[in-house]
Amino acid sequence: MNNIDEIKNRLDIVDVISESVKLRRSGKNYTGFCPFHANTRTPAFVVFPDTGTWRCFGECNEGGDIFRFVMKKEGIDFKEALKMLANRAGIQLEPLTPQKIERNERADLLRKILEEAVVFYRHQLLKTDEGLKARSYLQEKRGIKPGTEEAWGLGYAPNSWDAVLNHFKRKGYTVRDIIDAGLLTEKDDGKVYDRFRHRLMIPIREMSGKIAGFGGRVLNPNDVPKFINSPQSILFNKSAIMFGLDKARKAIRSANQAVIVEGYFDVIVPHQEGFENLVSPMGTALAETQMRLLKRFTRRFVMALDPDAAGQKATIRGLEVARGALDHEGDLVFNARGLLHYESRLKADLRVSTLPDNLDPDEIVLRNHDEWKTIIENAQPIIYHVLETLVEGQDIDDPRVKSTIASQVLPLVKDIASPIERDAYRQYIARTLKVDERSLMETSVSNPIKRRKKQKIKGQPSINPPLQAARTSEQENINRIEKEILAFLSIEPEHKYKIDRFLRSNDLSQISLNDFKHTENTEIARIIFDSLSQDKQDPIDYINVHVDLSNFTTEFSHPPLPEDNEKKENAKIRKLEEAARLVMQVRQINTNQEIKELRFLQTDRIDQGNDKSVDKTLQIHMVELIKKRGLLDRALAKPVSID
Ligand code: UTP
Ligand code: MN
Repeated sequence: MNNIDEIKNRLDIVDVISESVKLRRSGKNYTGFCPFHANTRTPAFVVFPDTGTWRCFGECNEGGDIFRFVMKKEGIDFKEALKMLANRAGIQLEPLTPQKIERNERADLLRKILEEAVVFYRHQLLKTDEGLKARSYLQEKRGIKPGTEEAWGLGYAPNSWDAVLNHFKRKGYTVRDIIDAGLLTEKDDGKVYDRFRHRLMIPIREMSGKIAGFGGRVLNPNDVPKFINSPQSILFNKSAIMFGLDKARKAIRSANQAVIVEGYFDVIVPHQEGFENLVSPMGTALAETQMRLLKRFTRRFVMALDPDAAGQKATIRGLEVARGALDHEGDLVFNARGLLHYESRLKADLRVSTLPDNLDPDEIVLRNHDEWKTIIENAQPIIYHVLETLVEGQDIDDPRVKSTIASQVLPLVKDIASPIERDAYRQYIARTLKVDERSLMETSVSNPIKRRKKQKIKGQPSINPPLQAARTSEQENINRIEKEILAFLSIEPEHKYKIDRFLRSNDLSQISLNDFKHTENTEIARIIFDSLSQDKQDPIDYINVHVDLSNFTTEFSHPPLPEDNEKKENAKIRKLEEAARLVMQVRQINTNQEIKELRFLQTDRIDQGNDKSVDKTLQIHMVELIKKRGLLDRALAKPVSID
């Protein structure tokens, strides 16, 4: 559960509102005079504890959740409201301390140095003799075109101990600044020299595009190590950065798949060749934080790692981490078994592909595009891959080998939720190990399905869930739909206009902040709308910089787009239509709810013996709502069609 849900769960909206509004209980709900406008004689403000919402049916005609109330009442923004309510709920939010602010300022300065270093190294690549040699290596040996080289900001670090040192000193930076940026190495005796010498320079960026450091590859094959990376610093945390994610982000989302490769060039070259959903963890270890980053964009992963034996082991290790990151919050399990357990629930799909002929991904892509496509399409589920790796080079006619391998791979199978999948895996393992399938059944200790059945018999016969739970699930449903709409708009912000035109053609109003009742969603919608009314950045970049999309992108199920261009266009339109339908659907749910709430207020007034003239405004309101519902019902009764 995220902080926002947690706050909503812990705090009673009636408690919070009753501090500033005198509330009178009426059935399950509470009525009062709206604090946001000058009041007439009758209360038009209602709090609904079941849904955790409030609404004013009077002059302001507004409503929302607990956050919206506090923001409006105190005249504060969402961040401040979050702080205030978190405090009240006893939930710890990360504070922005003066130390943190100072650190942020320092990081900005160091990033500025690194951006200048990109320019410096590029100049060296393009304008010096040694640099031009490095450039021809890129073009001739690695198949890198000038446009690619420019897009990735590749450069050349000159073969000098002090070129960078002097360049940045001349620019007025202190030696400390240059060291902290990771461009110099400091010896024990205090002497400093250029960290990167006679190397190809590859800028490493965060997901947002902010620079974090460099990778430097040897040009002279005798130099070691083959790669030098920026040192760990406040900018560069190797295990929290996925190389290429800033450029692969969009493609990963739209393909709903991330291909994980090992090297820098294994990302850059396929990108150039039109395969853009690739990233690299920059080395063999795949850290949990890196997986968390990726998880924001997809839950479908293909690992295309090194073909050699060491690489195979690394792949298995990588898988273990991948599973850990996808596990549910606060209960990380860092092994293959842990995630398999949750794979079906989380809809995570992890596959592994084995690369042929001892080639790296960049080499395969350059050799043959179709071959690469096929390799990725044929990526195997983990269990097959693990089995294959365990069997390799072993004498599987040896009964002890059979039993060792079975004992390693069977626990993985046991945890798979789907009995059909489980059976299929067991059959496969039996065939591979040349044993009778039944002998594998015996080794599996417990069967989750049987357990569940037993519980059902013993457990209470179907008791209706309490009403509260039913209502809450309606709120959850609304929340989910809102997030799905946002997930769509965050990928295709400009499609808002298409949806708006469609809504208008059905006499419905355009998408607005009002369509989002959960304040955290309203805030994201605001950023998406802002992204469309600014012209400094691509809207998607604007959105990515301003909002942490991790809360909802993965909840939006978007099947991969087909390869065929025409089909791809069709699939995009289907998604657009689906988003438009969701907008109408959530409006329908909200309108029905509002009608119910208004009925409640009308009844309450009659009970209180209020005069009819005041009720007239409520009556007009009701007519409007019913008209709106009619339009929505009609529009939703036919298929949504947008072109
Ligand atoms: P590889 O040794 O497989 O290199 O390391 P590569 O990417 O295939 O390099 P090319 O194709 O010969 O240019 C894979 C990745 O591991 C990291 C780098 O990110 C590299 O791309 N690595 C490797 C290091 O960080 N340091 C090293 O010393 C070696
Ligand atoms: Mn390589």
